[in-house]
Amino acid sequence: MVGVAHVIVEPVSMRAWADRTRSGGRSIAIVPTMGALHRGHVELIEAARARSDEVVVSIFVNPLQFGEQADFDHYPRPIDDDLEACDAAGVDVVYAPTAAAMYPDGFASTVHVSGLSDRMEGASRPGHFDGVTTVVTKLFAAVRPHCALFGEKDFQQLAIIRRMVSDLDLGIEIVSHATVRESDGVALSSRNRRLTEAQRRAAVCIPDAIRAGIECARSSTDAGLVVHAAEAIVHAEPLAELDYVAVFDSATLCPVDDISADHRRPGSVRIALAVRFGEIRLIDNADLFPSP
Ligand code: PAJ
Repeated sequence: MVGVAHVIVEPVSMRAWADRTRSGGRSIAIVPTMGALHRGHVELIEAARARSDEVVVSIFVNPLQFGEQADFDHYPRPIDDDLEACDAAGVDVVYAPTAAAMYPDGFASTVHVSGLSDRMEGASRPGHFDGVTTVVTKLFAAVRPHCALFGEKDFQQLAIIRRMVSDLDLGIEIVSHATVRESDGVALSSRNRRLTEAQRRAAVCIPDAIRAGIECARSSTDAGLVVHAAEAIVHAEPLAELDYVAVFDSATLCPVDDISADHRRPGSVRIALAVRFGEIRLIDNADLFPSP
């Protein structure tokens, strides 16, 4: 059937496909995912489709990047729905390796990006980004893409991958895609499907908190006040437990205290937060000075 994605599970077979495709002069784009695909992933796939001859979607729930065993165990894995979504989006290859093939006995290597990996999500989830950079390096090695697409939803991850690709001369173009949201402003996430109805309604405090931060930044240069404005919204929601709110430089990810004149332009400073609803932890972020 035309359009049905080809599923590859072995790294060595993935690499053989990539070598053949490259020697045939065709370009390859990868969209790395952990599955449970939603419209955010599909937009990344469509952006990949528009810029490349072949689109590979990897689906791998990477044990190395989970701190909490329960989060890994309960991560949704609707593989049939995912394959259908890939077919519908015109994906050429689904790369879905097993954990045993990715991390065989004796596996001992880690890719670590220092500095950028230690803040925000890195501080709350020690080792998380080492898991991400290690698996993404392996995915890049097997798929040999010319470009790779990542969402701004995980802004810190995107910045770390860019740093890694530059530092290690990987020669892969990293393309970012804006965060895709539900109509109430909540960012799409595979973890949203684990929320109860009440928790899902409560999750609107996340985009509300971001909006409050943006609003506050219009009249204040004090990042502390911006953080407080966002925190107050989350604290007012009884089902939400705040992990952190951060105001940071988009390029360095360093905290910004004084949002001075040269910071007050689109793309310069972001606000990010992490909030728990029971066992489910959600993250989001946005430009603090969005273009009008
Ligand atoms: P996952 O959470 O499945 O996300 C896969 C990609 O989709 C990431 O680049 C993420 O930023 C993007 N994405 C998720 N939700 C989005 C949304 N609402 N709008 C736009 N893009 C969105 O991120 C991972 O998997 C993993 O860490 C991975 C990179 C695959 C490594 O294991």
